[in-house]
Amino acid sequence: MRIFVLFFLLAVFSVSYGKNIKLKDLPEELSNYYPPKSDKMEFVELMHLLSTSMTGVIANVREGDWQNAEKWAKRLQENYLKIGKMVKKWDKLLKKDDMEKLVKSVESKNKMQTLGFVQKVGKSCVQCHKSYRLSAKIKFHSPDFEGMNIEDPVSGLDYSLKDYMKAMTNDMKMMRIYLIDGKKSKARKSGFDFIKRFDGMTQMCGDCHTDKLSEKVYFGIEAEKRITALREAVVNGELTKINKQLKWLSQNNCSKCHNVHQTPYLLKEKFGGK
Ligand code: HEC
Ligand code: HEC
Ligand code: HEC
Repeated sequence: MRIFVLFFLLAVFSVSYGKNIKLKDLPEELSNYYPPKSDKMEFVELMHLLSTSMTGVIANVREGDWQNAEKWAKRLQENYLKIGKMVKKWDKLLKKDDMEKLVKSVESKNKMQTLGFVQKVGKSCVQCHKSYRLSAKIKFHSPDFEGMNIEDPVSGLDYSLKDYMKAMTNDMKMMRIYLIDGKKSKARKSGFDFIKRFDGMTQMCGDCHTDKLSEKVYFGIEAEKRITALREAVVNGELTKINKQLKWLSQNNCSKCHNVHQTPYLLKEKFGGK
């Protein structure tokens, strides 16, 4: 009976656990190989070296080129061991014995054995990736808007990005509400404020993007045309035309930028940032 209860609890727990995303904490030491501490991306570079060495071994073993297979096996071993030297906490996750046996199998030109150990070592790659890769993507590669300020072109004050977004969204809604309520001059003011804030967003792109190419994806010629058409519709108080332009901007500017920047940032915030 007790065992049954235990099983039941386990089942319940494993089900509810499955619905949560789990982002494992990363060893502090890993941060040494990423900005802001280092711009060289040493850890990512090591991963690419490992991947190339692994393919170097497999391809040469398949072709029966044992001399080159040995060269790549030794590079693989050397780079594999570096993981534990760069991040001490991860040393124990490495299959060092299997790695050693892989090199020995290549030296004795044993194809089946070599491929067997390649698989075993490969499992340790997959295992670590399962546990830590998503955390690393979120922690080191996603945009970080924490503490970012942006000058509000309407009030001239510095706003947090969140407050800026809220103010702009409010303009968007109020220009419609005022128009529907017959308050034309207020609708016009909200419309113009929206356009100023919309254009003002590009202030921040350069904080992270070094060229104008990225900016043009959401603030290109088509967006400019839509803003011009929106301004005209605001001046004339034409609700249908306003709605049409705002719909386009929502889908092609706001939503697309949110998919790229806001979604990973929300994850990062939950994870606790840097
Ligand atoms: C850089 C690309 C970018 C563009 C373009 C953009 N946003 Fe945002 N938006 C963000 C980011 C990043 C956040 C998250 C900010 C935060 O949580 O601190 C955000 C958050 C928001 C929020 C949520 C604020 C809150 O209360 O958490 C709203 C609403 C919003 N944006 C509206 C808009 C609208 C409307 C547009 C288009 C007119 C737009 N955004 C265009 C990047 C963008
Ligand atoms: C102890 C942990 C660990 C082990 C073992 C490990 N990796 Fe990784 N690997 C990572 C982490 C963490 C990332 C994510 C790094 C990032 O995105 O900055 C990664 C990313 C990668 C990437 C993608 C790099 C990119 O640009 O996105 C490749 C390829 C890779 N690893 C290959 C390997 C191979 C091949 C092995 C085994 C021979 C291996 N890794 C073993 C932790 C590990
Ligand atoms: C806090 C830093 C930050 C800010 C500010 C920022 N971005 Fe990004 N953006 C990123 C990161 C990180 C990526 C993911 C790709 C990468 O790592 O470069 C990205 C990706 C993009 C992409 C996808 C393709 C590419 O060009 O890399 C576009 C387009 C883009 N951003 C446009 C913008 C625009 C437009 C603005 C200003 C309104 C902006 N970004 C502001 C950090 C930022």
